Amino acid sequence: LNIPDLIRQKRDGEAHSRAELEALVLGYTRGDVPDYQLSAWLMAVYLRGMTEQETADLTLVMADSGDRMDLAGLPRTVDKHSTGGVGDKTSLILTPMLAALGLTVAKMSGRGLAHTGGTIDKLESIPGWTSELPEERFIAQARDIGLSLVGQSKDLAPADGKLYALRDVTATVDCLPLIASSIMSKKLASGAHTVVLDVKVGAGAFMRTLDDGRALARAMVDIGTRAGRQVRAVLTDMDTPLGHMAGNSLEVLEALATLRGEGPHDLTELCVALAVEALAAQGEDEAAAAERARQTLQDGSALAKFRAFVAAQGGDASYVDDPGKFDVAPGRADVTAPVAGFVQRIDALSVGRAVLALGGGRERKGEAIDHGVGVELLRKPGEAVQAGEAVLRIYHRDSRGLDVARALLESGLSIGANAPAPDPLILDRVN
Ligand code: URA
Repeated sequence: LNIPDLIRQKRDGEAHSRAELEALVLGYTRGDVPDYQLSAWLMAVYLRGMTEQETADLTLVMADSGDRMDLAGLPRTVDKHSTGGVGDKTSLILTPMLAALGLTVAKMSGRGLAHTGGTIDKLESIPGWTSELPEERFIAQARDIGLSLVGQSKDLAPADGKLYALRDVTATVDCLPLIASSIMSKKLASGAHTVVLDVKVGAGAFMRTLDDGRALARAMVDIGTRAGRQVRAVLTDMDTPLGHMAGNSLEVLEALATLRGEGPHDLTELCVALAVEALAAQGEDEAAAAERARQTLQDGSALAKFRAFVAAQGGDASYVDDPGKFDVAPGRADVTAPVAGFVQRIDALSVGRAVLALGGGRERKGEAIDHGVGVELLRKPGEAVQAGEAVLRIYHRDSRGLDVARALLESGLSIGANAPAPDPLILDRVN
């Protein structure tokens, strides 16, 4: 197959066969197709799109580009994926809930990049906890306690890793078939039978509008279903950060409170809703599933799973029961309401960028981060505030990034005279 011909085909809006996609994508992964040709092809895909069949084929080509995790010996396997947000510590709560509900979570998670956080970074706030486990231990731990969680393996869907890096520098990341196939190739290669997707929509998300979010959710559910998996998606709001905390240690602290049944309403409800999707995909009645899911936060069973999981992966489990041990940055600065009124908006992107400026995130892969810095939302949209009252609290270390963070937070905060209409957190479901 001639690569310039394939680029021309896509440029002119034609659809590729699976063999053609293999020639392009596997050729690139092997190093036979150069960056400049694949860049031109990616831009043609960006502009011309892909059919459903092409998107499904591309996903399978990438999923089969390396190893596939074999979870066949584990009961009721479930995976969860969020398309990325600010303050999204859902995985820290949901995965032990699922384990307590008798499902098996053997999951790969990512690190934070740009303004979005990552589960692995958050868990590394607990001293000793490691994201690296040999495959046998990963599987054995999932069998023993129902939960193991590691970093993304380079051997899993390697084509996606290479393609993503190229997309990142060719302005072709925000393209629906490329996002859908990227996410789902990793989910298919990771082997879980049931996949629950949390598709974030709004200012702090990839997908800015509900229509775009729905289209992405539909595409991912269709890809998974074609591949014989149970896939369900929930579309959730990411205009405002989830819960009250953004920043690594702070988010773990909030997740622990939630696992004790003392979490913020939005975060708790989202975790319950995602657990219901996982159980319903396995044929359980939704009302009973919601009751059972809530129970795991009340009776300590999800917290017990989290404690066992932390210890199994080398973490100091005493942190789970003694939140005072976490290294939270000692510097404090508040952003106050300039006038009295109601909080209209706390822009998730501004909060995410503020955490980044404080040193809590990374612009480039591999950079070190400060787990202790972050932002607390003392008030959420819809709440009344007095002039001069603190709305946001910055946790900084030696004032690093403080001025930038403050300016970002001030620009992302709006106060108005009237109470805004309440925004639903769960916007839609796709299955
Ligand atoms: N997350 C991924 O894994 N891939 C994308 O393309 C976008 C978000």
